[in-house]
Amino acid sequence: MRESLVRKSDVSRSTPIIAVTEASLTETLAGLGESAAAWCEANDFTGKASTFQLVPGLKEEGAAVLFGVEDTGLPHPFALGGLAKGLPAGDYHLADGFPDPEQAALGFALSAYKFERYLSPAGKTRRLAVGGDVDLDRIGIVLDGVQLARDLINTPANDMGPEELASEIEELFSANGGSGRIIVGDDLLTENFPMVHAVGRASARAPRLADFTWGAEDAPKITLVGKGVIFDTGGLNLKPGSSMSLMKKDMGGAANVLGLASMIMKAKLPVRLRVIVPCVENAVSGNAFRPGDILQSRKGLSVEIGNTDAEGRLVLGDALALADEENPELLIDMATLTGAARVALGPDLPPFYTKDEELADDISVMAEASTDPLWRLPLWQPYMKYLDSKIADINHINTTGAGFAGSITAALFLSKFVENTDSWVHFDIYGWTPAEKPGKPSGGEAQGIRCLFDLVSERFSTTQ
Ligand code: BES
Ligand code: MN
Ligand code: ZN
Repeated sequence: MRESLVRKSDVSRSTPIIAVTEASLTETLAGLGESAAAWCEANDFTGKASTFQLVPGLKEEGAAVLFGVEDTGLPHPFALGGLAKGLPAGDYHLADGFPDPEQAALGFALSAYKFERYLSPAGKTRRLAVGGDVDLDRIGIVLDGVQLARDLINTPANDMGPEELASEIEELFSANGGSGRIIVGDDLLTENFPMVHAVGRASARAPRLADFTWGAEDAPKITLVGKGVIFDTGGLNLKPGSSMSLMKKDMGGAANVLGLASMIMKAKLPVRLRVIVPCVENAVSGNAFRPGDILQSRKGLSVEIGNTDAEGRLVLGDALALADEENPELLIDMATLTGAARVALGPDLPPFYTKDEELADDISVMAEASTDPLWRLPLWQPYMKYLDSKIADINHINTTGAGFAGSITAALFLSKFVENTDSWVHFDIYGWTPAEKPGKPSGGEAQGIRCLFDLVSERFSTTQ
């Protein structure tokens, strides 16, 4: 993805991409010559927004690409993505008519992503050559983080187990000079992570908790917690096949916080970063946890199990309790937590929850500015009563049976495990693009982390 953007000075010759509108097409073609006009006519290219046409260019240029935009500019900030998939391999650059070349380049590169781990090496690719007006260093850092998140999600569970996921975290941190520990199997019990152990113990692949830090000890503390369920069968409350088929993506929260951690470390932001990820498989076996079980938790609350398919909030409960013990400046968790979030807002608009009004406002503003859409939903306290249990401190699901407010009640459950930290925000992401869109190839998806990188960069910059 990063390779799809290069400096203009690094390519000997590149084909210009010229923005046209339906109204301006004739004039542009007049400047290009008769064969370009004939070519457009033969291909029925009218300059309609988001369509493109390769035409013979002026003599010294060889060819040119005409790209349809609206009178007001690009039809979508990432509209150029269509070119990243559609053009023949080769080098291109943006000619006149693109108001925000940085945004356009980002859209191109985000769309150029392909999951290649299991494919034979591809040949020549399409590259967009950019000028000095594009901050290639920062875009490269963002693209690396997005690529990491997508690759981790797309990798199937047979090659991305609890051990492999924890190793990815260890490798990312050691490559950037960070360090940490991984607590494995029964050590989770002695170290007091009972819910992580209970959810993960039925798998032949032992559960674990990765806990890594990076940066100066006295810098502001930012902690990221991600749901790392490498596959979610639902456990004894087994999912039907149609609901299980995509569940390799249930470590999408972990993948996204790792993508964000990569951005923060590579940009060397002046923070003390911590990443905590419970890495488990929610599997079926004779020793699986059951509906009706009562689990102890790190926090000390007893938790009645209503449904073993609501496993994410359990492993996150213990991980958040650990994070909360040192009262970080900012605590972010990301999780593919509920189907209800997707029902409420669809796959492309993850809800987030926080009691910190200023943080909420900043996220909403930044989400729009970074074309990384997010929508605030409330931690609506009256629904806390849905989690009442008669025989334990709390139930982890809404047992009143009506299926109301599934994403909100999951967020409320998590809130029980965060006591000291004022700035805590929870993202209930989908982590997947079902059908290709501008800047979003189908498959594993980064959600919210470009926005969060911008937010963290702005809040914690050295110059403030
Ligand atoms: N990983 C799922 C949530 C999920 C499902 C996210 C589909 C995205 C797409 C989670 O572990 C789960 O199964 N949640 C249950 C909770 C229910 C049993 C209370 C759900 O949402 O149905
Ligand atoms: Mn589940
Ligand atoms: Zn799950």
